[in-house]
Amino acid sequence: MKKMTKVRITDTTLRDAHQSLWATRMRTDDILKIASEIDEAGYYSLECWGGATFDVCMRFLREDPWERLRFIKKACPKTPLQMLLRGQNVLGYKHYPDDVVDRFVALACENGMDIFRVFDALNDPRNLETAVRSVKKYGGHAQGTISYTTSPVHTVKAYVKLARELRSMGVDSICIKDMAGILTPGAARELVSALVKAMPDMPIQVHSHMTSGMAAAMYMAAVESGAGCVDCAISTMSSFSSQPPVESVAAILSSEGYDTGLDMSRLQKINAYFKELKKKRQPASSAKVEPVDAGVLVHAIPGGMISNLRSQLAQQDALDRLDEVLEELPKTRADLGYPPLVTPTSQIVGVQSVLNVLSGKRYSMVTDETKRYAAGYYGRTPAPIEPSLRKKLAGSLKPIDCRPADLLAPGLVKAASEIPPYTLKSEEDILSYVLFPEVALGYFKWRKEGGPIPADAEETAASAAPAASAPKGAAASAPDAKGPAVRGTPVVAPLNGTFYRSDAPGKPEMAADGASVKTGDSVCVVEAMKLFNPIKSPAQGRITFVAAHGKSVVKGEVVAFVE
Ligand code: CO
Repeated sequence: MKKMTKVRITDTTLRDAHQSLWATRMRTDDILKIASEIDEAGYYSLECWGGATFDVCMRFLREDPWERLRFIKKACPKTPLQMLLRGQNVLGYKHYPDDVVDRFVALACENGMDIFRVFDALNDPRNLETAVRSVKKYGGHAQGTISYTTSPVHTVKAYVKLARELRSMGVDSICIKDMAGILTPGAARELVSALVKAMPDMPIQVHSHMTSGMAAAMYMAAVESGAGCVDCAISTMSSFSSQPPVESVAAILSSEGYDTGLDMSRLQKINAYFKELKKKRQPASSAKVEPVDAGVLVHAIPGGMISNLRSQLAQQDALDRLDEVLEELPKTRADLGYPPLVTPTSQIVGVQSVLNVLSGKRYSMVTDETKRYAAGYYGRTPAPIEPSLRKKLAGSLKPIDCRPADLLAPGLVKAASEIPPYTLKSEEDILSYVLFPEVALGYFKWRKEGGPIPADAEETAASAAPAASAPKGAAASAPDAKGPAVRGTPVVAPLNGTFYRSDAPGKPEMAADGASVKTGDSVCVVEAMKLFNPIKSPAQGRITFVAAHGKSVVKGEVVAFVE
């Protein structure tokens, strides 16, 4: 009989699985009722925090994410807790200053986090440095991540080079993160073998999604090539766009002589619990989801991204143009230097592709995020952007080549001074506020004054999936979109969306009628596709608004006049 080799499994049920299937709506109570069973099951670690959980906790569940972490730690003393951290983006959609990253990691450690899977959408090591250093400083396990994608520049050699850089940063292990579920068994074998050969002592973990149906087979190939840990979810919370089912993967591995050390009868009990919970928490919309999206095998666009594109197009009354957008998307991605499609680059590439199709002229409308991306404010693109296109996209923004966070002044002290003191309870609150200012203030106010809690399942289905969360404060502008030869001086909505009579999103004061404006001034905003599109004045003069603040407008509608 073959000697059993040990392979460990990370359980993602408490984070990625419900983020992928239930729009992240699992509640702390739901978790605590089953936590001790999960703790006893024999997992390597429990991924239970980070990703979209933090935002959704405060925004929709009216829960304190820090408190959730403390409760889980108490209920699960045996198994290490794990989180997903977006490097310099922490849990948000932009780069934060180093003091924010460092203090966030320190408090996460203090509150019970053990393993930090740190990734960057562009695989730019400079965006991981601070987070990895802080994790080590505060005694955590730093897992460096390869965000997996395919492109002419994403070769095995390039991934090994990245892994070496991660190792020199001091990471304790490396994760291959296949967020789109496009890693084939063959490619996994090649990549894992190359990593093992380059650094035999480095533990390798593989994370994938069942979107294309390949992940369980791919895990087997990865394990045979030397991966020591794979990510699974309990069967009821698995498959579709979630992880492969732990019971099945354990059975496959065991049949090939690998021991996962999992207590199978306990897994049954855990599964029975989630089967019941599913009745309450699963969004109604998930009934329409196909179990396998074979299209991913062709276009390699993550499933969540396609549903976002669909809803963005629906808002623009242009659902019939989805095929054009799917055709445009790989071209936009190539133009932008082949970024892996993961938050926030998936939003940047997705929205820009939609605009490229709808505007009729590629890059005649450029989102503010695309602008910043092209100018280097997200980090180094995997392949360089063609210089004249980069210049055009960056527009007035000065291109940078340094580590983006080097340009940011410390943010904690300023943030602390912005929170109404009567709502502030702990230092953790300051971090919550830095990452999600409006959401956190709303939550703090609710905590202080009470109020309704958003309802369960049906509301869940209706509200935005976290995967669809747009970069905050993102905005689109049309640098050379003088539009169809605007004469006189109507101001026209460039897209269907919600009209705001202010020149910046979230700005409380409304622009007044009669204010004097200059040509090119941002005079109002149309919120569309989860992005705020500032509208520029086509002329100099005094502005009179005709559209109502907060109301829907359609493309081409006159929203104001400049006299
Ligand atoms: Co994932």
